[in-house]
Amino acid sequence: MFKRFRRLRLNAHLRDLVQETRLAKEDFIYPLFIKSGKNYKKEIASMPGVFQMSIDEILKECDTLKKLGLYSIILFGIPEVKDSIGSDALCEHGIIASSIKAIKEAHPDMFVATDLCFCEYTDHGHCGILDMKHETVNNDATLKILGQQALIHAKAGADMIAPSGMMDGTISVLRKALDDAGFINLPIMAYSTKFASAYYGPFRDVAESSPSFGDRRSYQMNPANRREAINESIEDEKEGADILMIKPALAYMDIIRDVKEHTSLPLAVYNVSGEYAMLKAAQKADLIDYDRVMMETLLGFKRAGADIIITYHAKEAAALL
Ligand code: PBG
Ligand code: ZN
Repeated sequence: MFKRFRRLRLNAHLRDLVQETRLAKEDFIYPLFIKSGKNYKKEIASMPGVFQMSIDEILKECDTLKKLGLYSIILFGIPEVKDSIGSDALCEHGIIASSIKAIKEAHPDMFVATDLCFCEYTDHGHCGILDMKHETVNNDATLKILGQQALIHAKAGADMIAPSGMMDGTISVLRKALDDAGFINLPIMAYSTKFASAYYGPFRDVAESSPSFGDRRSYQMNPANRREAINESIEDEKEGADILMIKPALAYMDIIRDVKEHTSLPLAVYNVSGEYAMLKAAQKADLIDYDRVMMETLLGFKRAGADIIITYHAKEAAALL
């Protein structure tokens, strides 16, 4: 006798009853890109449906998100002026600080996470302060300004900070900086396992953050490395992260599962710009059933072990849920 698996597949209600993994609107964090100015809303060619927006447009966008049942966002600021240390990110009147304040004032019910990094703010496009020879990013000098950046976000009213620069020691330095300033209840979502990926290409168009020389391989991880990915996550958990993250998502499903099994914190995945752009291109060329492929992809992240999904698909997916 063989086993009758199909017995549980014949009835739609029964299929629902035995379904192991489900997507929910509450799983999603939606990324937003903010530029200075007014009435500004510019679509990104490689990412249809994703815009750079001025703060007034972002406030309207929050209304749209709430109508869809989406309350969690992650903010990326694009400053008017960039310099060698990313000063705009360290200023309480800078683009990101003003945005956080404006959003929390108009939409106190939104949950506002912020990306903590310098690549959008530096003129060289790297994720921190360069070393003397201008060859790579100086880890410890960058940690110092990361602490300042965290306090700028915290004071402006951010609900969670998400450091994405892959400097060693980030989480312990930030936790201490926040605690010392009284922000003991502000959670840190660590981009704990972030690979040096070609999938970030379209994001760098939106965020205007391509490095002007070299690449990010001296701080982001080698896509070939599984043990190192687990070690990075375990270290961030030890240093006091509240949520861990794997990024990108689609080519790293094994890493999602590995990290889930080696750590006990909530786990986020970042379904990045290049992954979104690929599905959008296939949709435009009429090559796939876009809605179904999108939902299957997002469900796959959860099955792999993700608790939280940061995705540009959030609005489209929420509309289907
Ligand atoms: C900043 C940052 C990047 C992304 C999120 N935060 C880009 C990078 O590291 O170059 C990528 C997100 C995406 O591709 O959607 N460090
Ligand atoms: Zn960066």
